[in-house]
Amino acid sequence: MHPPLSLTLTLLLTLLLTPLPTPAKTTPQTPLEQAQPRPHQNPANPEQTILKTGNPLALPGPWPWYADPEAHRFAHTGPSAAQNYWLYPTYSAAYEQQTFFDAFSSPDLVTWTKHPTVLNITQIPWSTNRAAWAPSVARRPVPKRPPMTETAEEDAYAYYMYFATGDGTGIGVARSTTNSPAGPFADALGRPLVNGTVMGAEAIDAQVFGAGTPRVWLYFGGWGHAVVVEVDAESMTALTGPFVEITPPEYVEGPWVLKRRGVYYFMYSVGGWGDNSYGVSYVTGPSPTGPFTATPTKILQGNDKIGTGTGHHSVLTIGEEYYIVYHRRYPNDTARDHRVVCIDRMEFDAQGNILPVNITLEGVEARPL
Ligand SMILES: *[C@@H]1O[C@H](CO)[C@@H](O)[C@H](O)[C@H]1NC(C)=O
Ligand SMILES: *[C@@H]1O[C@H](CO)[C@@H](O)[C@H](O)[C@H]1NC(C)=O
Ligand SMILES: *[C@@H]1O[C@H](CO)[C@@H](O)[C@H](O)[C@H]1NC(C)=O
Ligand SMILES: *[C@@H]1O[C@H](CO)[C@@H](O)[C@H](O)[C@H]1NC(C)=O
Repeated sequence: MHPPLSLTLTLLLTLLLTPLPTPAKTTPQTPLEQAQPRPHQNPANPEQTILKTGNPLALPGPWPWYADPEAHRFAHTGPSAAQNYWLYPTYSAAYEQQTFFDAFSSPDLVTWTKHPTVLNITQIPWSTNRAAWAPSVARRPVPKRPPMTETAEEDAYAYYMYFATGDGTGIGVARSTTNSPAGPFADALGRPLVNGTVMGAEAIDAQVFGAGTPRVWLYFGGWGHAVVVEVDAESMTALTGPFVEITPPEYVEGPWVLKRRGVYYFMYSVGGWGDNSYGVSYVTGPSPTGPFTATPTKILQGNDKIGTGTGHHSVLTIGEEYYIVYHRRYPNDTARDHRVVCIDRMEFDAQGNILPVNITLEGVEARPL
């Protein structure tokens, strides 16, 4: 989300040579018609219509601009809020206005409910109260303690949000005060979990991997450096291992690790976040810390017809179905903060390679849980 140092000069020149980006408005533009979910003709049966999400996702307004989406499906059973899909994005606005996170939930990927201000960093003394970016939410089971209540389903898990604040100040951790993914979340430590730059990596873009298993990992890093560190699986609020730099070729920011059939896929954003060089590549390895393959494969790229600046993604896994959830820009809109959240299918070939994603205006079919 923040440009690497090597890009700073280019960005400065770009700023000087182009009109200033539209300042964030208190009355945002109306999202385009294509943002609405709508029925689509089923190509296999023209009589039949199928409901699709539309891209971008129809997140309730009034603010239409969100970025860095982390999508989750936490639970499969029980009548709890956790049964929904959950989405935790960055509020895409001027840094000074990025003082909180909104979350969104959906039973089917089509209809979304907004949960405003699930974390308010104004109330966190160590934060610089700006540039709240790219939250990652993880949960772990907690022992059920009598007496059981009717909220027992939600009480069975604790939810933690890992978030960056202040454009490199640090990554903090907050715990849900309701034991629900809806939060609100409250700062757990009174200080950052990762304080400042580590091995050249700006302390932003957390991803917590492996929560609920014996070994939990925190991936993070901007400014072209990626770092992984082990997290205490019991408390979820302490680091237990050394920082390990795992920067793959062309890495810029936005790490996302996924495990499939014993292979660790280390995905990340490449290019410049402000233009159409932004995309997603991946390398693979045999463990959470690698070693990873030397040659990255690019699987997400924007285009002038559908959307530009595609990147900073997460992957939603439902059994053997994979959905890439990412942000992009309208091809005709160069305003810096005008980023919108989109979803498309992600597929693997028989050899386990991730296939290039076809970005769409239609999005994906409704997928009720
Ligand atoms: C965040 O907290 C501050 C201080 O309590 C408050 O003034 C502000 O309205 C809150 N922001 C939001 C978006 O709720
Ligand atoms: C972060 O580290 C710096 C340098 O060691 C230290 O001065 C500062 O107090 C730390 N910040 C917090 C909030 O712990
Ligand atoms: C982009 O194009 C759409 C569709 O033609 C239009 O509605 C919208 O106003 C345009 N946005 C900008 C920023 O020009
Ligand atoms: C992208 O489109 C091609 C050509 O239609 C198709 O073969 C491929 O399966 C699609 N990929 C994904 C991930 O949907």
